[in-house]
Parts: sequence; C-alpha cells; structure tokens
Amino acid sequence: MNSKLDLLQSKINKAKEGGGEKRIESQHSKGKLTARERISLFLDEDSFEEIGMLTEHRSTNFGLEKTKFLGDGVITGSGFVDGRPVYVFAQDFTVFGGSLAEIHAKKICRVMDLAMQNGMPFVGLNDSGGARIQEGVVSLGGYADIFYRNTMASGVIPQISAIMGPCAGGAVYSPALTDFIYMVQDTSFMFVTGPNVVKTVTHEEVTSEELGGASTHSEKSGVAHFSVENDVKCIKDIKKLLSYLPQNCEEQAPSLPYTAGDESRPKLNDIVPANPNQPYDMREVIHELVDDKSFYEVQENFAQNIVVGFARMAGKSIGVIANQPAYLAGVLDIQSSNKAARFIRFCDSFNIPLLVCEDVPGFLPGTDQEWNGIISNGAKLLYAFCEATVPSVTVITRKAYGGAYDVMNSKHIGADMNYAWPSAEIAVMGAKGAAEIIFRNEIKSAENPEEKWKEKEAEYAELFANPYNAARHGFIDEVIVPADTRKKLIRSFEMLKNKVQHLPKKKHGNIPL
Ligand code: COA
Repeated sequence: MNSKLDLLQSKINKAKEGGGEKRIESQHSKGKLTARERISLFLDEDSFEEIGMLTEHRSTNFGLEKTKFLGDGVITGSGFVDGRPVYVFAQDFTVFGGSLAEIHAKKICRVMDLAMQNGMPFVGLNDSGGARIQEGVVSLGGYADIFYRNTMASGVIPQISAIMGPCAGGAVYSPALTDFIYMVQDTSFMFVTGPNVVKTVTHEEVTSEELGGASTHSEKSGVAHFSVENDVKCIKDIKKLLSYLPQNCEEQAPSLPYTAGDESRPKLNDIVPANPNQPYDMREVIHELVDDKSFYEVQENFAQNIVVGFARMAGKSIGVIANQPAYLAGVLDIQSSNKAARFIRFCDSFNIPLLVCEDVPGFLPGTDQEWNGIISNGAKLLYAFCEATVPSVTVITRKAYGGAYDVMNSKHIGADMNYAWPSAEIAVMGAKGAAEIIFRNEIKSAENPEEKWKEKEAEYAELFANPYNAARHGFIDEVIVPADTRKKLIRSFEMLKNKVQHLPKKKHGNIPL
C-alpha cells in the first residue's frame, strides 16, 4: 500500500506543478496569479474539492502524445465562498496556454452539469489562448458544448465569468452568455478577432488593449460589467457579488441581520436643485436610501446616464435602476436601455426586488439614435419592466416625461408602489416645449413673443410640472417627503415580500432583441 500511496502522491504533486516552474514564473512576471492560486484565494480555506485532477488529453496530432500535463490545462471542482457552495473552473495558462480541447472542455462541462443539478452558482476564471490548435475541430465542439450549457443554465443559476488573461475567438461567447463579466486591467483582453486579423481585413491599426482591454469593454462596448485592478481584487469582488445573490432561481438571496434605527434621511430634502435644469448625482440619493455602504454598482463606466447595481434594504438584496441627471441629463438612449434591461431581467430571474429612482427628461433625440434602433432598444427596457414579477417600487425624484414616464416602471406596467417627491414633474413633456407647441399662435401674434412664451411656459409648469395630477389619477400612490423615503421603502418591500405573480403560459416571450 505504501508504494501505491507514494505513486498517488507523486501524481498529485505533478498535477499541482501545472506547466512547470518556468511557466509559473512567467505567469507571475506578468502580474498574474496561477489557476491554483486564484482558486485558493476564491474559496474558503480547505474547502476545495477538485474534480478531474488526473485527466490528460488523448490527442496524437503533431506529436502531442509526448506532451501531457495532468489536469489538461484547467482546474475544476467545488468549494465554499463565505460558507455557501459554488462550482468553479480556472484555466491554467501554464499548460498549453490554457487552451481548450476535448478533455479540458469535458471538465468544464462536468462542473457546469453539477452546478445545474445541484442549483449552485457557476464561476469561470478564464485565462486561455483559445481553441487548442493541435486538436482542431474537437476543440470547437468543446466550446459549443459549453455554450449550450451556459444557455440552459441562464436564469437557473447565477453564472459569473472573470477574464484574467487572453480570451479570443470563440472563447468569448461562453463569458458573453453568462450573467456578469469581470475583466482584469492590463492583463486581460477579449475580442472575436485579434489586431492582426483586424489589420488584414479593415486596415485598422489597433493594439490588443485598445481593441478589447478592460477599459474598452467596461466603457465603450459594455461587454464587461466590472473592470478591476488585479487578480486579487477580481476574486474579492466576485465574492462580494455572490453575497447579493441567491444560489438559484428557486431561492431567495441571503439576508444580513438588520436592526432598525432612525431611518429618516434629512439630506434627501436638499438634493434636488430648485432649478429643474441643474444636474445632481443620483448616486447620492441611492446611497442615502439603501443600507450604509451596501451599493455595489454594475457597469459603472458604461452608459452612465443610467445607474444600476445591487444594494441592501434593511439587510435584504435589491436591484437598483436609476436615471442619472448628472450624465446627459439622465436621458434614455440605446445603450442605457440595454444596460438596464439586462440588469432588470437578471434580478427578476433571481428573485431580487427592484427599486427604481426616476428623473428622466425623455428619450435622446437624433438620427444616430433612430437609425441605430432606439425604438426596438428602448422597447427592451419597457419589456423587461413589464415582464418582471418581483416586487418593484418606483420613486420619482424629479422629471418623468413622456414615454419615458411609462417605461421607467410606471404603475401601468406593473410597479407595485409608486412614490413621488414634491419636486416631481410628471407630464407629457417639459413646460418650455409644451408651451411652444400648444400656444404657438398666441406666442407668434404677441407683441413680445419671447415674454409671452415665458408666461405660457410658467402657466404650463404651474399646471403640470408637479406630481399631483398623476396622484389624482392614482398613478402615484403617495407624494412623500424625501427625508422619509427610506422608511417608506423598507415598509413597502416588507409588505411586498410574499408577492406571487404568474405570467401567461407561453414557451417564452419575444423580447425585441
Ligand atoms: N493552442 C495550443 N497552444 C497554445 C495556444 C493554442 N490556442 N495558445 C497558446 N498556446 C501555447 C503556446 O504554444 C505556448 O506554449 P509553450 O509554453 O509550450 O511555449 C504557451 O501556450 C504560451 O503561449 P505564448 O504565445 O508564449 O504566450 P503569450 O502570452 O506570449 O501569448 C496568446 C498569448 C494567447 C496571445 C498567444 O499564445 C496566441 O496568440 N495564441 C493563439 C490564439 C489563437 O489563435 N487561438 C485559436 C483560435 S480561438
């Protein structure tokens, strides 16, 4: 038995060496951790149960039979994060550049199947040179097996991807199918075709970083939800994200203990400026409303005219969707509609109630928006709110104009409670534009048209730039003192916590993609 135990130990040692000392050094010299270091940082101490440590590829192409590494370039298994079980894989760049081939893909599929079977989150730490070139089409088949599982798992278990090195070609589509993507600054990139192909086809000269680095995808494309400084921060932040999420779509997110205190927030009475054209930072409102330091923003630097993220209200997870008057006056456009729609659908899939903070002057006008499909893209946001069945509460802090009023979780499309501050302006359009249209003749024929316009604008504002018409119709449940908003929200979410709503039976809806 002793010699058999020695053999087992020597195999385990070999597997733990990955691609060997030199390649590990090279990994470290790039500022990257190894796959095993990442896993041990991610999981609670001594909780990792590895699956498939002794697997090897079985390819004989290009002399590959002489180069084998135990584990085949990916480490897979289960473990606990803050006491809650998850399934995980980490690609090992020191073995064939973390490239994906038959066995490598099978290992990933195995943990995905287990995550689905057992209703637990699935986290992928990507660091790979793509399809293993020597294995050819077998590698491509491996990707497709993963894509299929990502799609089947969508809305069933939370799926999180971290890009911690290269991720190119077909490899990008597994992360893209998952719920959230983290990218590590300077050491990761994602693109469908690399700079060389781009140069050949379009004659554009672009670096990997410009084409698909963390800042590109977190600011320009919105592909990445989080851009993080380094591997350690990346892992820490994934753990934080998991703390807001349930294990699967059948469960509720975990609650933190909460002791009620003075929930009044007097600062809120002074946040909205007297001048309706003056911006303010909606994040300040969010921070006052939710539990102290609990707001975790998603896609912080993309489509900044809408702010989305997770927070806690009296210890319980909520998703926040808020127009941002400090950026493009908080208008809705193509990117912000997409950003918010996807976030709402995630929260709805995983039983996370929604808080909407609304200050929206309308949709962004212009040929760019119309020609690129603001109609169908705006409709995604509308659709997402309409189909959401989780408890949802809207607070109108200032503007709620036109179609955007309807879209931003109005009572008509399913909001459970709608509050407005006394500063709310709920109307078809802003007073200036409205006066120009409905009093056009009067203004034109006036002795001083400019003065007449101002007079009519004031008349319209007096009549409509307030929350009381909407309240009269029951579209607003209560006009509230801003300082009391947190107290109201805590009570509202408590009263809505047993909400059950079933959608009409269907195979699936046809969201205007
Ligand atoms: N298939 C097989 N082996 C691969 C690979 C792949 N797709 N990508 C990288 N490797 C291997 C390299 O041969 C090298 O092996 P070695 O350690 O035995 O020398 C090792 O992984 C590291 O690669 P290297 O090129 O030295 O690392 P790098 O950090 O300089 O560059 C990449 C990383 C990903 C940019 C580069 O390896 C690359 O362009 N790979 C090919 C990408 C690709 O076209 N994939 C297929 C289409 S999806």
